[in-house]
Amino acid sequence: MLKTDFMGLKLSNPVMIAAGPWNRDGKGIKESLEAGAGAAVTESIVSDTVLDVRPRISCDDNGAQNIRLYSDIQIEGWEREMDIAKSSGGIVIGSVSGNTASEVSYLASKLERFGADAIEISVSNPAVESLEVVASNADVVYQMTKECVSAVKLPVIVKLSQNTTNISKVAKAVKDAGGSGVTAINTVRGILGVDIDSAVPMLSTYGGISGEYIRPFGLASVATIAQTVDIPICGVGGISEYKHAIEYIMLGASAVQVGTAVMLEGRDMIRKIVQELEIWAQDNEFDDLSEIRGKALDNLKSFEEMKFEPAVARANGASCNENCEKCISACMYNAITKKAGSISVDRSRCTGCGLCTFVCPANKLKLDL
Ligand SMILES: Cc1cc2nc3c(=O)[nH]c(=O)nc-3n(C[C@H](O)[C@H](O)[C@H](O)COP(=O)(O)O)c2cc1C
Repeated sequence: MLKTDFMGLKLSNPVMIAAGPWNRDGKGIKESLEAGAGAAVTESIVSDTVLDVRPRISCDDNGAQNIRLYSDIQIEGWEREMDIAKSSGGIVIGSVSGNTASEVSYLASKLERFGADAIEISVSNPAVESLEVVASNADVVYQMTKECVSAVKLPVIVKLSQNTTNISKVAKAVKDAGGSGVTAINTVRGILGVDIDSAVPMLSTYGGISGEYIRPFGLASVATIAQTVDIPICGVGGISEYKHAIEYIMLGASAVQVGTAVMLEGRDMIRKIVQELEIWAQDNEFDDLSEIRGKALDNLKSFEEMKFEPAVARANGASCNENCEKCISACMYNAITKKAGSISVDRSRCTGCGLCTFVCPANKLKLDL
């Protein structure tokens, strides 16, 4: 039921484990596959390995920030790591990163020889400004993809950055260059926080924000690409439960990847996501998850297509036993009042912004015509 064909790769399910230090070597990748992932992406492999700065990963309740992380294993060392990674079966995608087309295609052809099933070119890293320039430049991404596609027989995916004004243009460049798919998104440039007693940021440079914080950006990037370019998409960013995976698929993704949640909760959470996806599909009588791919795009208009709808809020059942009064404080139009446990909306004041329907924990407010 969850079997997925992604760019010709036959995945047992659409949930992959994303590129990152949890997949830094053969052992880690093998563990990712044994935890039930449909595929695992290696940490990005570069031609010049550099010493990692310390500290380099911070987190809070909503996600993480990391700075400059690549595989610390030289490309030649990946021959052995790939053997280990693939020793119990499963699909391994080799992630490569570099500043030039010849660099990435050289790494890709090595990984093909070592047994990778596909290549993912990581064209961005929010901590490394030169790579962010690559990620926003459709011509450079085109050249990189084209050279890589001609260097290997494997499917080539390009992992895009949200830190660009034109993700559609870059995705189109990937397609035009013969790329088989895109992954969206990498981490988003940011600073997680500052210790106000010492005036020291949590990490000492700008980094890539991941996890819960970035899911809205990942969802929007996937939807934008799906609406504008006909290319298989792998959605990534802030997935920590099966519902998030379904959101990505409904907005056009064929498969998804999980990173930060695996880092913070362990790989076993993948098995849970896969099991819950299976149950959801059964309960909703889907034979195949491709039946829901892009389903939410029909309900996603461009702003220009939005029509004026004179909708206003209505109290859904007059009595409200909640003590929160969140709807009253959130109503900037002073349209909501509560007396003796009963909420009412002054429909002449309500302008239909809709906020009360989202803040109410008891689902007491609805917007209608
Ligand atoms: C610590 C850490 C290291 C990462 N390293 C890589 C990497 O080597 N290559 C890459 O393409 N993405 C890397 N990423 C980005 C993730 O693969 C993923 O795109 C991003 O974190 C968003 O997904 P998430 O919210 O599920 O983590 C890294 C992310 C984190 C948190």
